[in-house]
Amino acid sequence: MIKIGVLGSGSMGTGIAQIAATAGHEVMLYDNNPDALNRASKQLQKILNRLVEKGRLDDADAKAIFGRIYFVDSIFAYRECEMVIEAIIENLDIKKAVFEQIEDVVSPDCILASNTSSLSIASIAAACDDPSRVIGIHFFNPAPLMKLVEIIPAIQTNPEITEEARRIVNNWGKLTVLAKDTPGFIVNRVARPFYGEALRIYEEGIADIPTIDWAIKEIGGFRMGPFTLMDYIGNDVNYIVTETVFKAFYYDPRYKPSFTQKRLSEAGYHGRKTGKGYYDYSENADHPKPKEDTKLGKQIVNRIVTMLINEAADALYLNIASKEDIDLAMTKGVNYPKGLLQWADEIGIPNCVAAMDDLYHNYLEDRYRCSPLLRRMARESETFY
Ligand SMILES: NC(=O)c1ccc[n+]([C@@H]2O[C@H](COP(=O)([O-])OP(=O)(O)OC[C@H]3O[C@@H](n4cnc5c(N)ncnc54)[C@H](O)[C@@H]3O)[C@@H](O)[C@H]2O)c1
Repeated sequence: MIKIGVLGSGSMGTGIAQIAATAGHEVMLYDNNPDALNRASKQLQKILNRLVEKGRLDDADAKAIFGRIYFVDSIFAYRECEMVIEAIIENLDIKKAVFEQIEDVVSPDCILASNTSSLSIASIAAACDDPSRVIGIHFFNPAPLMKLVEIIPAIQTNPEITEEARRIVNNWGKLTVLAKDTPGFIVNRVARPFYGEALRIYEEGIADIPTIDWAIKEIGGFRMGPFTLMDYIGNDVNYIVTETVFKAFYYDPRYKPSFTQKRLSEAGYHGRKTGKGYYDYSENADHPKPKEDTKLGKQIVNRIVTMLINEAADALYLNIASKEDIDLAMTKGVNYPKGLLQWADEIGIPNCVAAMDDLYHNYLEDRYRCSPLLRRMARESETFY
């Protein structure tokens, strides 16, 4: 069984190390901050103990998994690794420097992967002498629990490396989807309107925050409303992803961030982790009630789901991924109740086009332009499936 290197022992690196060790690999986990490595060791022990308590793992297996993770103090420990997955800070210059260093240590056959959420794999690969072995392997948080992994070959990546990386991650029990090296890959691109359109509806005064969350959860069938979810993710993190995607798309208004979230982020109202976000999580806080108006709720759901479908259709139109992978990514990566393209078929493509055109005629903003693919499909009476 090949040895796996993991660089960065934050929340993602720790999770990835746990997955690989559980699959039977020896894992070399390194972080340039010894405290982070210590925390990761304690965290992993705690998680494995909990799995034992819950009866999901027996004690001997837990000990064996932990025993396969080496908390190493230098990247030279990657010498014998056949795949190294980087999960350090989201900063292109730092990632490039680190890839250059790792390439000097590992064998010529070692796959070099990045778990970046928003940076271009091509630019990370360009830092290496052999960019053809560099690939994006994007896990979701918490990595051991989330089934989905996006595999992102750069334009330089050797197709054999793509296949090999996919095979390894599939063997870890993950569902892999193939995504083009474009901002946000699949999930972080297609999901933008879930947050952005909810914020816009709120900013326009159409409904308050609890009402939008209630509609999306109770009528839309999503696991969580967008504001509850943003408070979970952290408004600092979610805002930065939105802004990064917006800039990376040359300021396409469809991805425009919202001042509401920017101010929350600036104020330190990050959500659950700071005790306050869209909601107040302190002990005696008021919990404002939603206005359970079904007609309004349906309007909210239709608008957000239409925008999501439009985004998914446009991702397919631009060959970011296959229709199956786009639907799989949204159901397994962010637990949407249905694949968006399947949902489009159920609603009817002409109805989706009409809903987009209604929004467009109402606002005359490019943000609400209908995907050319939906328009063509409506004209030719096609369906996705
Ligand atoms: N958190 C998420 O939800 C999530 C999901 C998918 C992908 N990602 C991506 O995964 C990566 C890591 O995210 P995270 O949330 O685990 O971050 P984190 O801040 O929890 O952990 C990053 C770790 O990297 C270490 N580090 C920084 N520079 C280093 C260097 N030069 N060498 C070695 N270690 C270094 C830090 O000490 C820290 O422990 C980022 O690229 C992020 O975009 C994050």
